[in-house]
Parts: sequence; C-alpha cells; structure tokens
Amino acid sequence: MQIAKFLKENQMHYKIYENVFDQTRIDTIVEYYDNRFADTHLTNGMYKIEDPWNLAIVQENIKPVLSSYFNTDLENIGDNIYKHNDPYFPHCDTSVDYPCFNVLIPLKVHNDLEQKFCIFDQYINDFTSGATWMGKWYAAASEFEHNKKRRFPFKDSIVENKTDVDIDEEMFTRCLEARGRDRLLFKNLSGIAVNFTPGSLIIFDSKHIHCTGRMDCDWKMGLSLRFKGEFDKEVK
Ligand SMILES: [Fe+2]
Repeated sequence: MQIAKFLKENQMHYKIYENVFDQTRIDTIVEYYDNRFADTHLTNGMYKIEDPWNLAIVQENIKPVLSSYFNTDLENIGDNIYKHNDPYFPHCDTSVDYPCFNVLIPLKVHNDLEQKFCIFDQYINDFTSGATWMGKWYAAASEFEHNKKRRFPFKDSIVENKTDVDIDEEMFTRCLEARGRDRLLFKNLSGIAVNFTPGSLIIFDSKHIHCTGRMDCDWKMGLSLRFKGEFDKEVK
C-alpha cells in the first residue's frame, strides 16, 4: 500500500494518537447525540448536530484531553457530531482567509467493525470555496452547490502533489471502493488509511484531501472539530 510515498517524514500532514479518550468520555458524547437524534439535520447523507465545541458536554469531556495536543484556545470554526451510512466523497475543508486543521474523534462504529478513514498526500492551492470531488456523480449535485463540487482530482488544477499513476489497487479495493466512487475518482492520489477507532484522535491539515473509508459497517459516528491555525505550527 502506498503510504505517504511522496512526502518526507518531517512534512507529515496528519497525526494519529491511539487510546486518547476513555470509554466513559466517548459514551457520554454518544448518549448525548442519541438522545437528540430527532434534532439532528441531514446534509449530504450525514445526520449532524452542529457547533459541538460550544456544548458544555464537549467542553467538559473533550477539551481537557485535546489540550495535551494543541492549544484549545485557538478559534474553533465549527463542525459537527455526525452519523452516516454511506462513505463520503473525497474533499477538503478549507476556509478562505486562513489555514486550519481538522480534529476527528471517532465515536462509534456499528457492530464494532474495523473502519478506515483516508487522508491523501494531495492538497489544494485554492481556498476560495470548499472542494468535493464527485467524479461521475458531479451532474447529480444541485445547481446551488456546484461552486463547491468538482469532478476528478486528477484533472483538477487546484490539486497539488499529484502522482502520475492510478490509485494503489490494494488501497482502492480495501479502503476506498464504494457506490459512486470508482478508481478514476482516486487517480493520481496516494495516501494513508488510518483506523477509525473510538478512543483515537486524528488531526490533519484541512487542505489535504480526505474521505471516509469503504464502509462495511451499517453506520458510524464521529465528532469533527476544526480550528484556525497552521497544522505544522500548532499540533504537537
Ligand atoms: Fe472533512
């Protein structure tokens, strides 16, 4: 499997920490979400509770743990607690005027199945809008959303650090293949599939392309946060 083949170790754009959150903290957030499922809203196939950083339960259970990994007084710029059944398309979560980094906390996977989250070595050089690559499904995106939707990373001039080969076959079949996501969608990309395991902490530079791994589980749930700041400088 290609793992960050095009980057030197000191240029890594992600950090993975295992066994960071004990089960009690995780269960507390899951229970909070489950009790409010009727209040979630559905966007792009994800049932979300927005703005989790401002929830007392996140401030009490999550913030003190995160403080060991980065300065949690940095400005939080949103995100959500989510649950979904289908793997999401490859995308970036940039903001227009400043760098930011994603903090992903896996909460629960149906039947405790092994699940992957994929982070690519490729990143975007244009932050004027969000970017989601939908390949052949591009035409199905609503007109309203077309400014954020794009077709294929390999044809896209805003994507930097492209390889000159197809996606690694093992990574594709084991971690990426899904309805609407064929090999062409990942052409000229390389990256890593990390374990989406409750209790772990995944932090990465928001400008890097990332996506849900192939889903063998019926659903999974996570807490996603985004902070203003440069990944290289802010994450220990
Ligand atoms: Fe994302």
